[in-house]
Amino acid sequence: MSTFNYTLSSFVLLATTLLVSADFNNEFDITWGDGRGKIVNGDLLTLSLDKTSGSGFESRNEYLFGQIDMQLKLVPGNSAGTVTAYYLSSKGSNWDEIDFEFLGNLSGDPYILHTNVFSQGKGNREQQFYLWFDPTADFHTYSILWNPKHIIFSVDGTPIREFKNAESMGVPFPKNQPMRIHSSLWNADDWATRGGLVKTDWSNAPFTASYRNFKANACVVASGKSSCAGSTSSGGNQAWLSEELDNTKQERLRWAQKNYMIYNYCSDSKRFPQGFPPECKLA
Ligand SMILES: *[C@@H]1O[C@H](CO)[C@@H](O)[C@H](O)[C@H]1NC(C)=O
Repeated sequence: MSTFNYTLSSFVLLATTLLVSADFNNEFDITWGDGRGKIVNGDLLTLSLDKTSGSGFESRNEYLFGQIDMQLKLVPGNSAGTVTAYYLSSKGSNWDEIDFEFLGNLSGDPYILHTNVFSQGKGNREQQFYLWFDPTADFHTYSILWNPKHIIFSVDGTPIREFKNAESMGVPFPKNQPMRIHSSLWNADDWATRGGLVKTDWSNAPFTASYRNFKANACVVASGKSSCAGSTSSGGNQAWLSEELDNTKQERLRWAQKNYMIYNYCSDSKRFPQGFPPECKLA
């Protein structure tokens, strides 16, 4: 009896593990970089950049809402001039987009985590952060919770940014266009580090960023149909579809914004002399 229980519970554990960490080979295609992007054993993906080219990948699935987690370990050492972008994006000239961009730096100087939200082709909603750890020393989890109420950017479970649905104020919200996950590592030394003052040092190339533990609890759209449509049980728990920030998370969000936010478009009065965008009232 105890042997049976043991076997059963290890089976359940195994099944859960497989669900939690998807096989990169089934989820993503390396889309550019001529061999500089690699999937290793299905559970690790690496992108690299040298003087000739960067590299990138995208998801096979298109998503319309989701709780999407990925662990990243960024380019170590002197990463000045490099940008690792990890984002969701739809297609067309009125596209929607949810961005994480990691701007590299000289050894020992902090990366900047740059975030933005585009709806119907319009962005200009930047918030930037330092991190409370060295993002090159180990893997950390970067998450996007995207549901009809809001978009929450989190780092290791701590929300750093909330973009609320402000449709009632006339601000379009991404909710009709399915998006793919994209990531790329490229050279942006004309603007990335200290506004472009510090250039990429190619003697450190190739630069490499790594990805693991991809987990998407999401609505997948295929042939115009959503996997979430008309059911609350497909794929299990969909509490995230209506999830809001509880008090603990709101406190964490305030902590991150107070201590680590270095730029917020909603307080850049020089940029918006005619008044801030309407959604800034909600923040
Ligand atoms: C790089 O380090 C400098 C000096 O500490 C800092 O001002 C800057 O914000 C850092 N990050 C980037 C991406 O420039």
